[in-house]
Amino acid sequence: MTTLIDPFSRKINYLRISVTDHCNYRCFYCRDEFHNNRTTRSEVLSLEEIARIARLFSELGVSKVRLTGGEPLIRKNILSLVEMLGKIPNINDMPLSTNAHLLKQHAQELQHLGVNRVNISIDSLQEKRFSDITRGGDLSKVIKGIDAAITAGMHPIKLNMVVMQDTNADEIEAMLDFAIDREIDIRFIETMPIGTSGIEASRQHISQADILARVEAHLKQDLQKIQLHDTDGPAHNYQIINSKSRVGVISAVSDNFCTTCNRVRLTAKGQLILCLGQENSVSLRDAIRAHKTDDEIKQIIINAIGKKPEKHEFDTNINNIELRQMVEIGG
Ligand code: 5AD
Repeated sequence: MTTLIDPFSRKINYLRISVTDHCNYRCFYCRDEFHNNRTTRSEVLSLEEIARIARLFSELGVSKVRLTGGEPLIRKNILSLVEMLGKIPNINDMPLSTNAHLLKQHAQELQHLGVNRVNISIDSLQEKRFSDITRGGDLSKVIKGIDAAITAGMHPIKLNMVVMQDTNADEIEAMLDFAIDREIDIRFIETMPIGTSGIEASRQHISQADILARVEAHLKQDLQKIQLHDTDGPAHNYQIINSKSRVGVISAVSDNFCTTCNRVRLTAKGQLILCLGQENSVSLRDAIRAHKTDDEIKQIIINAIGKKPEKHEFDTNINNIELRQMVEIGG
């Protein structure tokens, strides 16, 4: 089987697919207040086009495909895409990243079609604050979504909390307790300076060391690092003693985990993005719509991987990503 190896000898086996650049939430760190994508339908890849690209990637050795957005569950007929992707032989891991607003009604079927696990964004457990952060989100719906994922048997379920000093950092302990009660995992995420909103929010930086110190003090235990999975990505993970829950910290800015980067991203408009913190990209949509053959498109992918940057430059050169909105790339 062919494999995708980039110029820095990294094996690319993970594709993140943003199925829509729209979101029913408007988290202030993710998108500018008045940001509107104004994406027209024909600009966006059809579900069949997405499935074709995913199949081509799988033939090039990609075994993990994550569905992201925007909010993936607002994409029309998302379940039929999940079904198509679930049938691709080499894809054996198909997680979903969601805000869980619509998860309650879909969890069982998603699980049945092969969405084995789910990451859920939740930045506060206080109704008013949650609504402020998300500009109108409904915390009770999200909690019902989390519980539906548990009932459906998805595993692991990871809660993602973007921690910001003056916004929600006082809830680190409450969020830990919430996850431990439900026997699910919790990850604390450092805000990334992507887009003007992300740059602004990242001023409320709180360090990984501070977060971990708070966690240890609250749990009254020394955290033991664990390796979860090869494809697990950039989180530092710790098992909580006497609990099924694990806690993780993701710190894209203070940490440089680019040496183990195994991923590329496909935007809803079919742009293949080689690095979250760099501008390089190529349009697979244009290739498809120019009626290229499978082999030709695979060659375009191989050539693009050959240009994958060595690392992001969040710390040295954030201006190049100022115009990017996280909501369009899917984190
Ligand atoms: N910094 C870090 N994570 C972000 N996300 C979106 N914007 C940012 C940002 N600026 C990620 C978070 C969130 C998900 C929706 O996208 O993980 O939970």
